[in-house]
Amino acid sequence: MLEGVVGRRRTEKTLPRNEKILRSLLDPSALPRHVAVIMDGNGRWAIKRGLPRTLGHRTGVKSLREVVRLSAELGISALSAYAFSTENWRRPPEEVSFLMELFVEYAGKEVEELRRNGVKVRVIGRREGLPARVLEAIQSLEQETKEGGRVTLNLAVNYGSRWEIVDAVKAIAQEVQRGVVKPEEIDEAVISSHLYTAGLPDPDLLIRPAGELRVSNFLLWQLAYTEFYVTPVLWPDFGRVDFLQALITYQQRERRFGGLKGNR
Ligand code: IPE
Ligand code: IPE
Ligand code: MG
Repeated sequence: MLEGVVGRRRTEKTLPRNEKILRSLLDPSALPRHVAVIMDGNGRWAIKRGLPRTLGHRTGVKSLREVVRLSAELGISALSAYAFSTENWRRPPEEVSFLMELFVEYAGKEVEELRRNGVKVRVIGRREGLPARVLEAIQSLEQETKEGGRVTLNLAVNYGSRWEIVDAVKAIAQEVQRGVVKPEEIDEAVISSHLYTAGLPDPDLLIRPAGELRVSNFLLWQLAYTEFYVTPVLWPDFGRVDFLQALITYQQRERRFGGLKGNR
């Protein structure tokens, strides 16, 4: 899988920023099947410019649009984007309401392009606690994009991986109680199939902009063998070139899955 790039191995620091050159460095046969993105750094982007944090969030929507577009162009079959965590309720109420409204606006404005690009949206996270307007927007976005066969876009809204695992454990416990599953039948596949990401491969690549070296309660189970890519670029500045750099860097990694080189 890595043969195509080994001879010209470069680190992300030395990768060019020209899209055409980056496209030529990318091996289209070795793309990640599933990319996860923690869309972070919106606040810092705005503060740096003397703007309200909310403008950072608004600008971040553009980055999401570009990343989804490029995923569709390249044929990356799953993308999971972290939009609002179960911990983000700790933010000031005005910021929380802004983010909720921004989601409603996104769902309305993007639906046409998402459909055109063959994107199927699944909103992952807890529905409990979300405002009615957001619930309606989720329902119509999922409904209107359900035929999308090119990219599955998981939008993580009110998402927390520990809650996801708690919900999965509860559902499995109920199945055991009803006699549908025996305790000894519970294995990794059973757990995976009760997570919001059921049916999708685990992420091959996790991108974290804005430089934090943590997962912030995102996809804890699913990231077991994911390659991490952290960049100081703030999410509102993250564009096609940054995404291509992340993909090329991913292709230069040697994945072992606990085995030895070239033997898995
Ligand atoms: C990410 O940007 C968006 C959400 C978490 C909703 P932040 O708002 O966390 O931006 P920083 O980390 O403060 O820069
Ligand atoms: C992670 O970013 C959540 C989202 C991007 C939605 P945070 O800004 O909430 O993460 P921490 O607080 O820095 O860990
Ligand atoms: Mg943040």
